[in-house]
Amino acid sequence: MRILSGIQPSGTLHLGNYFGMMQPAIALQEKGEAFYFIADYHSMTSLFDAAQRRKNSLDVALDFLACGLDPKQAVFFRQSDVPEVTELAWILSTLTPMSLLEKCHSFKDKSAKGLPVNHGLFAYPVLMAADILIYDSNIVPVGQDQKQHVEVTRDIAIKFNEAYGETFVIPEPQIRGETAKVPGLDGEKMSKSYGNTLEIFGEEKALRKKVMGIKMDSRTPDEPKPDADQNLAIQLLSLVAPAETAKDFENRLRAGGLGYGDLKKGLFEHYWNHFAEARKKRAELAANLDYVNSVLAAGATKARTLAQTVLKRARKASGLE
Ligand code: ADP
Ligand code: TRP
Repeated sequence: MRILSGIQPSGTLHLGNYFGMMQPAIALQEKGEAFYFIADYHSMTSLFDAAQRRKNSLDVALDFLACGLDPKQAVFFRQSDVPEVTELAWILSTLTPMSLLEKCHSFKDKSAKGLPVNHGLFAYPVLMAADILIYDSNIVPVGQDQKQHVEVTRDIAIKFNEAYGETFVIPEPQIRGETAKVPGLDGEKMSKSYGNTLEIFGEEKALRKKVMGIKMDSRTPDEPKPDADQNLAIQLLSLVAPAETAKDFENRLRAGGLGYGDLKKGLFEHYWNHFAEARKKRAELAANLDYVNSVLAAGATKARTLAQTVLKRARKASGLE
């Protein structure tokens, strides 16, 4: 079984990225042959600062390795180190109906908001299809918002197979139910574009301030809160604290007597401790960039070898060879 996923180096990674995609991907690395990559080509659709891209790509590499991606088990690489994927994206684009891409929220949401959209953003799901298909991937662990893109990938692969004969493996998205959508500090989906994120790594004081700044309602501490399970701090706590601890906070909030300040303090402590080990590992990795670069270089070689084989299959099937 081959498992594949990617993450864009378009900003600092947050709890939504971690619980929605990174942690499930890391958990799967021992269940099959895992291919995980830094989607730097994709980041070009929205980030136009070269130095920032370079920095973000390195940060994603450090974050992922610190959080437990094991390069002995998973092939870890930079998307653009396998340029074959852009050739496959072209081939696939000729089988992709415009109407399919017009429906994709990656493009639709931005254009609806009147934000500038470029061709790359419109064609983004086709490049993602190429990412997935070029490694004969079976399983794609992603957050809920990427499900549509995996469905588009399936449609394109089926079309190609119908037009040119069985060539591509049809992938399945894998979405983790309980963390499908991690809420942000304002209760909306946590996303760097909404400015409501809690970062995985960062400066303690600033992050504590973010947590203590979560807005709550005006009920007094003593008032019982029958809707305790809907409380944002409780929801975040259930991700970063042991289940019994989170349940205990929830019960105390429901019964009355637990103030929001104490709840947020508890949330911060558990969040901070949850990533303590990863934080230490990240600092070690940051002091050993040669190692990090060697991991990405070895990953690129492995990924590229496989990509070349699958691309050749597609070139032959479609009459380019
Ligand atoms: P952002 O919304 O911050 O731009 P991305 O779109 O780059 O995040 O998402 C990278 C990965 O993290 C994707 O697999 C996505 O589904 C997952 N992800 C992002 N935000 C969340 C969230 N709030 N809850 C669950 N998964 C998320
Ligand atoms: N579009 C994904 C995101 O924004 C990143 C990505 C690019 C990806 N190619 C992929 C994810 C292939 C899974 C498989 O999060």
